[in-house]
Amino acid sequence: MVEPRLGHPNLGLGIGLRTVHFPYILENHPAIDWFEIISENFIDSKGRPRDTLDKIAERYPIVMHGVSLSIGSTDPLNFNYLEKLKKLATEIKAHWISDHLCWTGVAGRNTHDLLPLPLNETTLEHVCNRIEMVQDFLERPLILENPSSYVTFAESTMTEWEFITEMSESTGCGLLLDVNNVYVSSVNHDFDPHSYLRHIPFHRVVQCHLAGHTNCGTHLIDTHDSEVIDPVWQLYREVHSRTGGISTLLEWDAQIPPFEKVHAEVLKAKDHMEDQLPKGDAVIEDDSTAQTGAVPHPLHYVSPEVQ
Ligand SMILES: [Fe+2]
Repeated sequence: MVEPRLGHPNLGLGIGLRTVHFPYILENHPAIDWFEIISENFIDSKGRPRDTLDKIAERYPIVMHGVSLSIGSTDPLNFNYLEKLKKLATEIKAHWISDHLCWTGVAGRNTHDLLPLPLNETTLEHVCNRIEMVQDFLERPLILENPSSYVTFAESTMTEWEFITEMSESTGCGLLLDVNNVYVSSVNHDFDPHSYLRHIPFHRVVQCHLAGHTNCGTHLIDTHDSEVIDPVWQLYREVHSRTGGISTLLEWDAQIPPFEKVHAEVLKAKDHMEDQLPKGDAVIEDDSTAQTGAVPHPLHYVSPEVQ
């Protein structure tokens, strides 16, 4: 029997730590439960950003979230990068280390994108082997996030939830369930997001993500630049009921508003946890906020100095 959340605590409601909020946090010590950092913004930083992180880590639980592990690539794993992750995790007492189920480059070239994988037995074996190598090196379970995606592969023979379930049961890794990513992919690929949730092994879900996205009319893009929309909150309610409470993190990475607004957005989760909203079957409604034009890219979340 696997312990819920792999034995990790429910940290409560947190937000992604972003540099624009550093002064506010240092001055006001807001009553927020925890922060998630983008690992790459700090692993090579010895100056002010790292000094600020150390101060914040003295007061708040910290979790590390990376964007360049490239667990699905056929390039060799970067053990220099993993060494830096491990060192930082020790120094700031990070509760866990996460990254994405994706690949970011091949043949030594970095695409600076979180690219989806063909979901089949060959990929599964490849990814599981690499997860085991990473976990052996880090000496802790790796936590992997379901991606938002915009294409599928003719070579895929499994659903994403089947792949994720087999991956986590085989390797013992944990899962970071991004509820907004489930919704974005469900619209882009026309599947039922509630069916996705029904098939997830929730005893392995350590954390969840919430975020806003951009509706481009024909598809959704995971831009993290706005409030969480109602259908995503409906999915979160389901996640909460299936987990009994889970570390919940709001990502807001473009057009970032003041700290208080980002914090207030994640605190909306309390309403859904306490079931104060009108009861009824979760209904996926049309997201009528269609926008056009340029949208931010997920790798914009990484500070320029680390790219
Ligand atoms: Fe996410």
